[in-house]
Amino acid sequence: MIQLDQVSFAYPSQGPTVRDLSFHIRKGEFVALLGANGAGKTTTVRLIDGLIRPTSGRVLIGGADTAGSSVSQRARRVGFLFQNPDRQICKNTVREEILFGLNAVRAEEGPEKLAARTDRVLADFGFTGDEEPFSLSRGQRQRVALASILAAEPEVLILDEPTTGLDYQECCHIMDRIRRMNREQQVTVIMVCHDMEVVLDYVDRALVMAGGRLLADGPVRQIFRDAALMERASILPPQMIDLSLRLDLPGADSPETMADAILAAKGGKPA
Ligand SMILES: Nc1ncnc2c1ncn2[C@@H]1O[C@H](COP(=O)(O)OP(=O)(O)OP(=O)(O)O)[C@@H](O)[C@H]1O
Ligand SMILES: [Mg+2]
Repeated sequence: MIQLDQVSFAYPSQGPTVRDLSFHIRKGEFVALLGANGAGKTTTVRLIDGLIRPTSGRVLIGGADTAGSSVSQRARRVGFLFQNPDRQICKNTVREEILFGLNAVRAEEGPEKLAARTDRVLADFGFTGDEEPFSLSRGQRQRVALASILAAEPEVLILDEPTTGLDYQECCHIMDRIRRMNREQQVTVIMVCHDMEVVLDYVDRALVMAGGRLLADGPVRQIFRDAALMERASILPPQMIDLSLRLDLPGADSPETMADAILAAKGGKPA
């Protein structure tokens, strides 16, 4: 679905921000992009979305080089949720907002189909459509931005720190919705995220970046258990992984498996 071949990128009058990145992501994968501030994560997802073009190398979406496609062609295939929903919302009601986004990428379907798409997504997200986005909570505005992107049914969803500023319940709402879409519709998801607990709970595979380069690529639990890698990338692993490593109980990385492992170590029976 997504392929980067030796991609490098430099902002004007700067040294390279992203260097020699090569990886591919298959359809239906849920991948996290991890790394410290300034590692090059946002730059990488902007390259995938085609918002910026590689200085060298190639980015392919579904086998097609993004260099040969227009912004609207890409916007139809790739949805991009920014960290701050207020950078994406510009209309006075939720219905207008969703229609506005749809008109930008699917205008040729005509007003009736777009209205039907809008109704479907409003019902799915539990909005009437008459809500005023800017009087909603931050978490609800993030859901409006997500609804607006999902209405166009993208094949790839890019999320740049989607849970920052959300409380636990809002975070679960957003992430559960994204996981459902990933599992049921095989939408490929790439998420930049600084919350390693969210990554552990939702993501299958992690790409780790530092200094614009790819340091590692593998299953999330394996990545988090690599203490030397975590240090190089300045990442603190999730608490359960940290605890399981300290207790030398490598398989115990959820509360349930931890409880069983401790009982087993004491000669008791699993709960
Ligand atoms: N528009 C820009 N112009 C010039 N330099 C930029 C621009 N955007 C980012 N940079 C620089 O590129 C480097 C990588 O930035 P990027 O935003 O990709 O990092 P990041 O991994 O997303 O960091 P964060 O976790 O803080 O969001 C940083 O040194 C940053 O200062
Ligand atoms: Mg960033």
